[in-house]
Amino acid sequence: MLDPFGRTITYLRVSMTDRCDFRCVYCMAEDMTFLPKRDLLTLEELDRLCSAFVAKGVRKLRLTGGEPLVRRDVMKLVRSLGRHLRSGALDELTLTTNGSQLARFAPELADTGVKRVNVSLDTLDPDRFAAITRWGKLDQVLGGIQAAQDAGLKIKINTVALRAINEAEIETIMTWAHGRGIDFTLIETMPMGDIDQDRTDQYLPLSVVRSRLAQRFTLDESDYRTGGPARYVTVRETGGRLGFITPLTHNFCESCNRVRLTCTGTLYMCLGQDDAADLRAPLRESSDDGLLHAAIDEAISRKPKGHDFIIDRRHQKPAVARHMSLTGG
Ligand code: 5AD
Ligand code: SF4
Repeated sequence: MLDPFGRTITYLRVSMTDRCDFRCVYCMAEDMTFLPKRDLLTLEELDRLCSAFVAKGVRKLRLTGGEPLVRRDVMKLVRSLGRHLRSGALDELTLTTNGSQLARFAPELADTGVKRVNVSLDTLDPDRFAAITRWGKLDQVLGGIQAAQDAGLKIKINTVALRAINEAEIETIMTWAHGRGIDFTLIETMPMGDIDQDRTDQYLPLSVVRSRLAQRFTLDESDYRTGGPARYVTVRETGGRLGFITPLTHNFCESCNRVRLTCTGTLYMCLGQDDAADLRAPLRESSDDGLLHAAIDEAISRKPKGHDFIIDRRHQKPAVARHMSLTGG
């Protein structure tokens, strides 16, 4: 799959559900209206969609949400998609999770061929964790991370850099992660969906964080890549990897290789644009994949050049109205 700007699409992110057992302050409002359950694609339909993308050249699949592990029977889908790993059609099957259910699912995930998971964790302080996630419990997530490591899964921690909230703790989280053989990636907040707070107050440019870290640590440039937008350095003092995802301060759209599917079968060709394609209709219209393949081709031919996220006092409205949890973070 080649888009109009010459980018090959090899990475599909699939939101299993827009629901989540947390309510992170930068992600959701406390009182969220979720998609009616009847609008969700079945796990069989999601499998067929993912498999169509694999047939068309996708090499990496990431299940996201919301929280993917709160979707009922999600492991059935993971198990089934594992066949593409064994056939060699897929290089990687992975998940982004908040970690709350990992203790329960880690052994089974490892068993199906999942090698790495990304865990979102913004603080190691229990009270701050409760304040950021509103509903989450830190112990549960730390237990999940431990269980995942015990099961042999590699972990990457994703931390959203939040001004005045976890700003002073970033070094601590990094050192903690690296001490456990865990990669650590920082993310800038993106203006997606209405939340109950002002994003301008939350936004912390990673250029600032990086120069602060560089005063205390030696950051060696690295060409390590995971197929995502993160740029990595190796921290000489810890020996660990530190990634930066900078949708605001450094736009990485020129190398974008991914598209995103929601749990209702809508394909978003860019996280930061509203244009989308409905794949549910062609999926349901025929049991043959011809229509679906044509719809995917048509969607890829409309992939936009990039996003234009801005966070400042003059831009109070989000760049897109939908929340990250719908499109898949
Ligand atoms: N900006 C940046 N990151 C976000 N996430 C959720 N909402 C936002 C946002 N508005 C992150 C989560 C998780 C990943 C799925 O996306 O923290 O790491
Ligand atoms: Fe849930 Fe992740 Fe959003 Fe937090 S950031 S509310 S864990 S989907």
